[in-house]
Amino acid sequence: MKVLVIGGGGREHALVWALRKSPSVKEVVAAPGNGGIAELARCLPVDTNNLHAMVDLVVIEKPDLTVVGPEVPLALGLVDELEQRKLRVFGPTKAAAQLESSKAFSKAFMLRYEIPTAEYALCTTLDEVRAALLNFSLPVVVKASGLAAGKGVVICNTRLEAETTAAQMFSGVLLGTAQTEIVLEEFLTGEEVSFFALCDGKHAVPIAAAQDHKRIGEGDTGPNTGGMGAYSTDGLLTPAMCQWVTQHIAQKVVDGMASEGTPFKGILFIGLMMSHRGPKVLEFNTRWGDPETEAIMLRLETDIVDLFNAAVDGTAIGLSIHLKPGASATVIAASAGYPGKYVSGKPITGLDSSSDDGVVIFHAGTAVNDGQIVTAGGRVLAVTAEAADLREALDRIYQRMKTISFEGMQYRRDIGHRALQ
Ligand code: AMP
Ligand code: GLY
Repeated sequence: MKVLVIGGGGREHALVWALRKSPSVKEVVAAPGNGGIAELARCLPVDTNNLHAMVDLVVIEKPDLTVVGPEVPLALGLVDELEQRKLRVFGPTKAAAQLESSKAFSKAFMLRYEIPTAEYALCTTLDEVRAALLNFSLPVVVKASGLAAGKGVVICNTRLEAETTAAQMFSGVLLGTAQTEIVLEEFLTGEEVSFFALCDGKHAVPIAAAQDHKRIGEGDTGPNTGGMGAYSTDGLLTPAMCQWVTQHIAQKVVDGMASEGTPFKGILFIGLMMSHRGPKVLEFNTRWGDPETEAIMLRLETDIVDLFNAAVDGTAIGLSIHLKPGASATVIAASAGYPGKYVSGKPITGLDSSSDDGVVIFHAGTAVNDGQIVTAGGRVLAVTAEAADLREALDRIYQRMKTISFEGMQYRRDIGHRALQ
């Protein structure tokens, strides 16, 4: 079969890599892809903010299956457009993707179905924010309701700071576009876990748990990023907890969405806080996580095409998804200045290796310039390995990272620190 993957980050490189291992896949096309994906797939340029450009491309390419990687095409309704044209596609419809694209929607949805989450207030004016703030203890979390590429959440230590943050979100100063809805949320503490379930509209099946490292600095300090590294181990969640989250969160989401006439198909990514009052949902994403996917793909033993087909065909209940026992991890090499301003176009050396260390380098933001791989984004590479235990996986990764370089390359040396402690 021919598969078309929409997107061009580390997550999509990992998905393309997994697809190329499937015996049923004859051809992979990626749009737009990147410098690393180009070694495994034919890459076609496309603007992933332009719905019609993406639809036209799929119609011309006629793949047997389209896999949508990032959230923006889902929120624009790419899946709806392809389904209307009877094209097979993996991912949720625009209505179902609201679980991620609208926190106003997802918070109200969780309330309707008694899914455990932080207490909240939805505000549409600054006066509402001021009034609601009186009901929250400090710190308080201020969130933009819409998609904000990881920048829409601010933890505020004073009410004044929360009010100012909300004002800047409403005016557009903070996120570039003026927000119309803001969610105030109770601040939760605990371990954060990313949980991934495959959903087919009727059933949710667990895939894996992983942990992301969102802050730029070691020891989880400094500003939030898209994710500086991730790992996945058997021990992250006990089998009993995994079952609890599947039954009491993932399956409830699928049942609730089905009962509202907007069945959820695709990946449900549950951002969890393991609080002292039990697991609470911080957020839903309606796609694979980045960089969690890079780590998970190295452990996935089940053919990824089986996952995609089960979700599209509504047969997930019969599917058991196997991961290699042990652990995997991925460490992001980022451009100098990221998550602020950075410069692209820096030549990358050390990507080719004859060593048999099992390390896989996924490209997050690279391009090919005159035959040379160069940086083309804030997050540049996701250096990934799988091993019997996390320590060994990380040792291989960090060993390998010493041989890779580009001007200004920065990375965290403490990925997995909580699990290793
Ligand atoms: P989100 O984009 O909603 O996952 O939020 C980004 C990050 O902000 C999360 O990974 C958490 O570290 C933090 N966060 C979000 N909501 C809360 C909350 N209610 N309490 C504490 N931290 C939060
Ligand atoms: N790793 C977090 C995300 O993909 O949103």
